Amino acid sequence: MDIEELPGVGPAIAEKLREAGYNSLEAIAVASPAELVAAAEIGEATSAKIINAAREAAEIGGFETGDTILGRRLEIGKLTTGSTSFDDLLGGGLETQALTEFYGEFGSGKTQIAHQLAVNVQLPPEKGGLNGSVIIIDTENTFRPERIKDMAEGASLDPDEILKNIHVARAYNSNHQILLVDKAERLAEELIDTEKPVRLLIVDSATAHFRSEYVGRGTLADRQQKINKHLHDTLRFGDLNNAVVMITNQVQVRPDAFFGDPTRPIGGHVVGHTATFRLYLRKSKGEKRIARLVDSPNLPEAEAVFTVSKVGIRD
Ligand code: GTP
Ligand code: MG
Repeated sequence: MDIEELPGVGPAIAEKLREAGYNSLEAIAVASPAELVAAAEIGEATSAKIINAAREAAEIGGFETGDTILGRRLEIGKLTTGSTSFDDLLGGGLETQALTEFYGEFGSGKTQIAHQLAVNVQLPPEKGGLNGSVIIIDTENTFRPERIKDMAEGASLDPDEILKNIHVARAYNSNHQILLVDKAERLAEELIDTEKPVRLLIVDSATAHFRSEYVGRGTLADRQQKINKHLHDTLRFGDLNNAVVMITNQVQVRPDAFFGDPTRPIGGHVVGHTATFRLYLRKSKGEKRIARLVDSPNLPEAEAVFTVSKVGIRD
């Protein structure tokens, strides 16, 4: 069924919805009425009617029985980091249908991990991959194909083949970044029946643009609301595509902290509540890094040591 066939959606509205990234019944079904109002310039009532029809057509929403939920959970895949101890910390790797946040100071390894995951996602499941391709939203211009080459060669993979399955877009500001998640959704739809459907979405960094654009106390609420929506968009991408969502986040120093670690992640509670898993990365000696699982729905708070080397992330 096409979105034009939904009651209340004519060709003009369908066009606007598609432009805003609502190009499938599923995407409309999980939207909020206010989102569609803004996207298609329609009234609140029409918007609600369209969403309800999409939910019925896509069989989304309402109550589900436990066994259905279990069925979807059984589809959850796990993506290896490249380090056994790191994977163990995560209960086997990064989960699909979830958002995993990596925060830590500069040089702590966030971008290196992003590169490694972009390689690993292409591996078959028996090697810890998801047999998929990856979309990277690069906000700080730190994607380096040369590093992908190092990592691919380190795993005896063909670097040219690996690079072909990595789709990178540079985000120039926070609005552009938000828009790129819609574009990612469209690209994922194009690739869904190919050999390498998109199984990983990376936003590196998720918060940097917001942090630099929204300065001062008066703009804080607006910033938090935008970040919140953006992160929920990425989470929806993960659900719709059974994909891993990986975001990075910087830390800021808390001047009022007298005890313990004075750093904390940017975005505060908004990011913390949306992320399914939160990992805090710290530098140690040389190539060594420490990852601490700070927040997880079903795993204990614990730490793992890993290294960032020429060939990538290892024990
Ligand atoms: P910010 O984005 O600045 O907040 O930091 P980040 O956490 O993203 O840091 P990133 O992942 O870029 O880590 C950079 C660090 O990775 C460098 O300081 C090196 O320690 C390490 N690194 C990067 N490339 C190589 C490499 O080719 N070989 C080795 N051995 N280490 C590397
Ligand atoms: Mg980085």
